Amino acid sequence: MARIFSGIQPTGIATLGNYLGALRNWVALQEGEDDCVFCLVDMHAITNFQDPAALREQTRQMAALLLACGIDPARSILFHQSAVSAHARLAWIFNCVARMGWLKRMTQFKDKAGKNQEEVSTGLFVYPNLMAADIHAYHATKVPVGDDQLQHLELANDIAEKFNHDYGVTFFPRIEPLILKESARVMSLRDGTRKMSKSDPSDQSRINMTDTADMIDQKIRKAKTDTAPLPDNLHDLVERPEARNLVGIFATITGQTPHQVLNHFAGSGFGPFKSQLAEALIAHVEPIGARTREYLDDTAALDQILRDGAQAAAAIAEPIVAEAERLVGFLPR
Ligand code: AMP
Ligand code: TRP
Repeated sequence: MARIFSGIQPTGIATLGNYLGALRNWVALQEGEDDCVFCLVDMHAITNFQDPAALREQTRQMAALLLACGIDPARSILFHQSAVSAHARLAWIFNCVARMGWLKRMTQFKDKAGKNQEEVSTGLFVYPNLMAADIHAYHATKVPVGDDQLQHLELANDIAEKFNHDYGVTFFPRIEPLILKESARVMSLRDGTRKMSKSDPSDQSRINMTDTADMIDQKIRKAKTDTAPLPDNLHDLVERPEARNLVGIFATITGQTPHQVLNHFAGSGFGPFKSQLAEALIAHVEPIGARTREYLDDTAALDQILRDGAQAAAAIAEPIVAEAERLVGFLPR
């Protein structure tokens, strides 16, 4: 039996993109053979300044959403990263294993820092070392992520290999990415060439998992499209990113192929298509939002779920990280 680990930053409200691209998959993985550990990575979140009250609220909100989507604390471990100190301790060791040159090559750092490289936090630079520690602290070997995280997983493998080599051990296993399909990528409702993102300044660009039926309906009605009718084949959508995105969402949410969707709507304008899309989205998303609000109504119970999760997580990570500390030569505590 292998162990699966994944993490999500508790910043902003999860979008339909997070749900279709990641969270839905986590729920499916939980049905399989492997142990699942799911982590709200609040330590990653503060690599960019977060308002403390907002971070607390968003961590609970993300926990509530994961539970509402079907993460079952009886079958998976769900907790917040900062509650298990093993992450920080192993991350420090990895800071001393990873090389400057490796981190300088990380495209996500280059994207996020942009021209501002001298001004961003040093945490943002070593972010991938903490991510490697998240995974290796559990000896997890399967990591479901979007393809934007692939480079970080390669780095985590390089770190494990160098650690094993430097200390003459075979302690950290190789990680196998479980990369989610391209079709799981949801694009912005305002610009079909950009990813739907919880950090986009325009709320109209995304469906939040907590949006009401009215909001979903309104956002889909206003979603950017073009004037041509829907074609009868996918090839004709190549140059129409907004239309392709909506067809992709429709297909995913109704469990069809994009081809089946086009078969049904070929030749029609966007009006009827959009109203059916909104209906399907509302049927899917609204109950999740309602359950999320129920979990949020009982903060004490929610915090208890996270505390129990952290305890279960620490029971796995603590001996692994203690052994890593012994291997590097730290005296026992
Ligand atoms: P983020 O919101 O960037 O912290 O991403 C959290 C998880 O959701 C990662 O696994 C991402 O790959 C996934 N994700 C984020 N946005 C999208 C999107 N628009 N489409 C598909 N997956 C996404
Ligand atoms: N960096 C990941 C993201 O932004 C989140 C993350 C942190 C993660 N630690 C992880 C994902 C460990 C998988 C495994 O999506």
